[in-house]
Amino acid sequence: MPPQGLSSARMTPLRVLFALLLASCFTFCLSCQNQNKFALTNPEKSSPKESERKESRAEAGLDSDAVEVLHPTEEWQVLQPGQAVPAGSHVRLNLQTGVREVKLQHEDKLQNNLKGLKKGKRLDINTNTYTSQDLKSALAKFKEGAEMKSSKEDKARQAKVKQLFRPIEELKKEFDELNVVIETDIQIMVRLINKFNSSSSSLEEKIAALFDLEYYVHQMDNAQDLLSFGGLQVVINGLNSTEPLVKEYAAFVLGAAFSSNPKVQVEAIEGGALQKLLVILATEQPLTAKKKVLFALCSLLRHFPYAQQQFLKLGGLQVLRSLVQEKSTEVLAVRVVTLLYDLVTEKMFAEEEAELTQDSSPEKLQQYRQVHLLPGLREQGWCEITANLLALPEHDAREKVLQTLGALLATCRDRYRQDPQLSRTLGSLQAEYQVLAALELQEGDDEGYFRELLASVSGLLKELR
Ligand SMILES: *[C@@H]1O[C@H](CO)[C@@H](O)[C@H](O)[C@H]1NC(C)=O
Ligand SMILES: *[C@@H]1O[C@H](CO)[C@@H](O)[C@H](O)[C@H]1NC(C)=O
Repeated sequence: MPPQGLSSARMTPLRVLFALLLASCFTFCLSCQNQNKFALTNPEKSSPKESERKESRAEAGLDSDAVEVLHPTEEWQVLQPGQAVPAGSHVRLNLQTGVREVKLQHEDKLQNNLKGLKKGKRLDINTNTYTSQDLKSALAKFKEGAEMKSSKEDKARQAKVKQLFRPIEELKKEFDELNVVIETDIQIMVRLINKFNSSSSSLEEKIAALFDLEYYVHQMDNAQDLLSFGGLQVVINGLNSTEPLVKEYAAFVLGAAFSSNPKVQVEAIEGGALQKLLVILATEQPLTAKKKVLFALCSLLRHFPYAQQQFLKLGGLQVLRSLVQEKSTEVLAVRVVTLLYDLVTEKMFAEEEAELTQDSSPEKLQQYRQVHLLPGLREQGWCEITANLLALPEHDAREKVLQTLGALLATCRDRYRQDPQLSRTLGSLQAEYQVLAALELQEGDDEGYFRELLASVSGLLKELR
C-alpha cells in the first residue's frame, strides 16, 4: 500500500468502484424513491441489507443515470465527485489536497502470485494482506484464464458465472489446499479498528482504516459484530478527534453502520453519538465533514423515535436551522428539509399503520407520539424557511421542497397564507411547469415528471386559497 494513499490494491474491482461511488458523492437524506435504480451489486456480498444498501447509495446522492466514467491513464488524475472508474483502477486519497486521484492499476500482487504458482513457484502470501473477497475474485480470474485456453468460449462463460456463485466454503477448501488463510470479516474489522485506534498509526493510516471499514459495516451482521468488540465506540470517539478528516470518515462509517440497524442505533445513542454529531454540525468545520455528519445523523434518526426525541431535546432543530441559514453551509438546506420531511411522514405512517393493523407494536407508536416534531417546526420558523427554499432553481430541489411544504401544510397553513412571496413563487412555478408539462406531453413522455411537479404546485395553490 503506498504510504500516502488509500490504495485499492487489496480491493476487488467492485469494491473499489462501490467504495468510490460512496465516497465521492456524499451522503444525504433523500426519501427512498429511487432505491431500485441502482444496479451495481456485488454478488459475493448479497445480504438482506442489499436493498438498504441501494437505498443508502440513493441517499448518498448517487443517481445511476448520472455516473460518469473517468478512464485512468498512467498519471494520477483528479477524480471528481460522482465520477466512477473502470474496475481495477488504482484510487487514492491525496491528503494534501483532500481530492481523490486515480490511475491505471498495474497487475496486483495476488494475481502475480497466482501466476507464479501456476508456473510452479511458491506462493508468497501474507495473510494480512488479502481478504476473502480478493482471494475469491483472484481465484475466479485465475481459473477463468486457465479454462479460456482449454475450452470454447461459451463454456468458459458458464464457468465464470458458476465461479461467481460458488459457496465460500468451497473456496476456503481450495485456498486451504494452497495454504492460504482467509481472514473473516470480523478479523478484518478488528484489524482495521486496531489500526485506527493505535496511537502509532499516522493520520493517513487512520483514514485508510476508516475508509476500508465503511465497506464492511454496510452488512447488518458486520455492523452488529462491531459492537461485540467495542469497535463502534472507538469510531464514535473518532468524532471527537481534532482532525477534521477523522471526524469526517468516522461519520462516514457511522452513517453506513446505523442505516436501518436498530441494535447499532441503540448502542450509538448510548455511546453519545447524537451529541457529538450535533456538536460538529453546530461548530465551524469543513463542509465535507458536515455533509457526512448530516448523513450519519439521518441514519441515526430514521425509524428510531427515541433518537428523534433526544434530537429535539438536545436542540437539534436549532442546529439544523443554523446550518440552512449560514452562507457556508446553505447548500445542505435541501438535505435538511428532506430529513424533516422523512421524519414528519414517518410519524404519520406509524399512526396510520397502527390504525390499519391492530397488532402493530403499541410501544413504538407511544414512542412516536412523544416526538413533538410539528409544533417545534412551527415555533422555530420552519414554515417560512421551507417556503423560502422554493426559490431554488433546480427542479429536483424544488421537488423536495414542494413535498415538504405539503407535509407541513396542516401545521403551517396560516403561515403560508400570510406569505405573499410564497403565492407569487407558486404562481410563477405554475406557469413554468405548465409549459414544461405540455412539452413533455408532446414528446410522448408518459412518466410526466413536470406534470407531477405541476400537480404539486397547483395542489398547494388550491389549499392556500
Ligand atoms: C483503543 O485504545 C484505547 C487506549 O489505547 C484502549 O483502552 C482501548 O481498549 C482500545 N479499544 C479497542 C476496541 O481496541
Ligand atoms: C467528546 O466531545 C464531547 C463534546 O464535544 C465532550 O462532551 C466529551 O467529553 C468528549 N469526549 C472525549 C472522550 O473526549
